[in-house]
Amino acid sequence: MLSLTSFEMTNPITASAPAKLILFGEHIVVYGEPAIATALDKRAYVTAITLDEKKIVVRSKNLGNEIEASFKEQTKDPVVRAAQVALEKTKANKGVQVEINSEIPVSVGLGSSASVSVATAAAILKLFSEKEPSKFEIMAVAHEAEKIAHGNPSGIDTAITTFGGTIFFKKGEIESLGAPQMEIVVGNTKVPRNTKEIVENVKKIIEDPRVAYNLFTISSIVRRAREALLRSNLTEIGHLMNKNQEFLRALGVSSVELEQLIQVAQQAGAYGAKLTGAGGGGCMIALTDSPEKIQDVLNKRGAEAFVVKTNQAGVRYE
Ligand code: MEV
Repeated sequence: MLSLTSFEMTNPITASAPAKLILFGEHIVVYGEPAIATALDKRAYVTAITLDEKKIVVRSKNLGNEIEASFKEQTKDPVVRAAQVALEKTKANKGVQVEINSEIPVSVGLGSSASVSVATAAAILKLFSEKEPSKFEIMAVAHEAEKIAHGNPSGIDTAITTFGGTIFFKKGEIESLGAPQMEIVVGNTKVPRNTKEIVENVKKIIEDPRVAYNLFTISSIVRRAREALLRSNLTEIGHLMNKNQEFLRALGVSSVELEQLIQVAQQAGAYGAKLTGAGGGGCMIALTDSPEKIQDVLNKRGAEAFVVKTNQAGVRYE
């Protein structure tokens, strides 16, 4: 058993968690249908250290700001919420300061808020416990924080960020897929988007029978994509990305900017392309065997394009 002295010596704790991409099934996953997500090689790092005063201090190196909050106050900040829930779970009798240092672009659909919440939960849970928390404990704390960021999150962002790899997710079920590591080109439209608002817009139309048909078609695309990923069949994965995009467009969550970049990538020979995450703006993704070429054509069309590697590690201690 650890003594109190060796427990104190674990202060500070740094945890990191990856960015994510939804490869298939965004939006329908909110209604209990499946989706597939993968963890990327861009991470958010959070260092937690105890404070003698019972308060929460959140410092963001990226934003260059500092927030101070109490253990119980109502908050609109997901990181403060993650800290509050983790402190409550560990019955902490000290305060905490967390410092965020993230490589993940914010508000573009790459799961930046989930990554920071997961890394914060992991760092604080370990700081105030004698044993390492389980991934399920970390995910449960981060899910509370995500409710502030997204309203009614399906849980897929916190699940992929916690477990890493590539997962087939349905509410309550997480299947780790032995999927290949792929290079994917991400094209940021630079148009800001609001996940909460877009998810609410979809909710307004989801009861319409024509939309329900759309939902079931995407669901079957996701299941076929699971098989294609397990067989590493890039042509089929790309074809299914194009199909998923057709139905996302019909759901009203695409945009002119996203459509332009998707078409440019498809015409330049990508296996497939689609929006990722909530849509409305943010990022599109393209699967290709020539990532530099696709990155280049997207940049020429005014996107901010970069190449990411899929299937990376989930939350971990540094
Ligand atoms: C956001 O990354 C994905 C959505 O499906 C919302 C959710 O799953 O909570 C749009």
